[in-house]
Amino acid sequence: MLAVLEEQAEKARSVLTPEVFDYYDAGSGDQLTRAESGAAWADYRFRPFPLRDVSAVDTASTALGVPVATPIAIAPSAFQRLAHPDGERATAAAAGQAGSLFVLSTRASLPIAEVAAAATGPWWFQVYVMRDRELTRRVVADAVTAGARALVLTGDTPYVGRKRQVRGTRIPLPDDHFLVNIAPHLAPGVDGRAAAAQDPSIGLETIDWLRREFGLPVLVKGVLRGDAADECLRAGAAGVIVSNHGGRQLDRAVPSAHALGDVVDAVAGRAPVYVDGGISCGLDVLTALALGAHGVLIGRPVLWALAAGGCQAVADTLSAMTDDLRHAMALTGVAGLDQINRSLLHH
Ligand code: FNR
Repeated sequence: MLAVLEEQAEKARSVLTPEVFDYYDAGSGDQLTRAESGAAWADYRFRPFPLRDVSAVDTASTALGVPVATPIAIAPSAFQRLAHPDGERATAAAAGQAGSLFVLSTRASLPIAEVAAAATGPWWFQVYVMRDRELTRRVVADAVTAGARALVLTGDTPYVGRKRQVRGTRIPLPDDHFLVNIAPHLAPGVDGRAAAAQDPSIGLETIDWLRREFGLPVLVKGVLRGDAADECLRAGAAGVIVSNHGGRQLDRAVPSAHALGDVVDAVAGRAPVYVDGGISCGLDVLTALALGAHGVLIGRPVLWALAAGGCQAVADTLSAMTDDLRHAMALTGVAGLDQINRSLLHH
């Protein structure tokens, strides 16, 4: 793990209440997947090229055709105002500063339009299909109006995973955080939290519904199998994100690092494959790219930075991760992302 990430996690632990820290940190169940996800990236070994000109190493990439300075993006995570008063506004601005892609959660704790106004780079909107479908349509429409360039349909959360209540208390989640983007669309007398709960009945047809309704590319997040990735693409997805939700949904789910190769093989170049889960240094990113990922997302490192130092700390974390990737690429003998492939990995 990159030292700055460790420092920021420590700082976050000291500034956040124990309940909020635990909410961000927790995995589900016995936290087996949470624990294995980071370690699994180190199961791979590199086969570096000696004597390659790496005096200029370029991390420039694209996000669905839009140029970005780094393949490291910000994962969607809920309720960022619990970490810092500037919440999602700060992370969106930080992504722009670092040339990263930003993904905004349906569970944003600030108005979508306000977050969008702070974004200077491309951003995507993560969709939880809620039990009230019209409410879902209206919230996603807000994001599309505000400038989201793609939708990320989270497919691994029919019900919220059971996190270990480490300290026996649930975080208090004020209505002005939870309902900020929901309340404006509620009919009088409707219970917002019930209407906004995840709809467990959604299937592959949801991909096409989103695509037709909003005319944006739809990526499916929470894919851990090649055959499932294939199904998503056939159903109209523009890409997939290999993820076990940071070990917060199905405990004992396979680490993303071990699922990625199968998904990349099944997708066979038809669409971009992204990955997240336990990525904490440049070597992890390089491993993901070598396995065939187009880019990676980071979740908790962003939340720790946000808590530790707001927008600037998040931008610094993204820059430090990108710098570490650049260093890892140089030592492996590759000068650009197009030179990274599976031959770099030792089986
Ligand atoms: C998440 N994640 C998540 N995913 C999603 O699709 N919608 C969401 O609202 C959230 N909310 C959320 C909250 C918190 C506190 C965490 C830690 C995570 C999952 C997130 O997008 C991502 O998949 C993981 O966080 C990646 O793992 P790392 O980088 O945290 O190890």
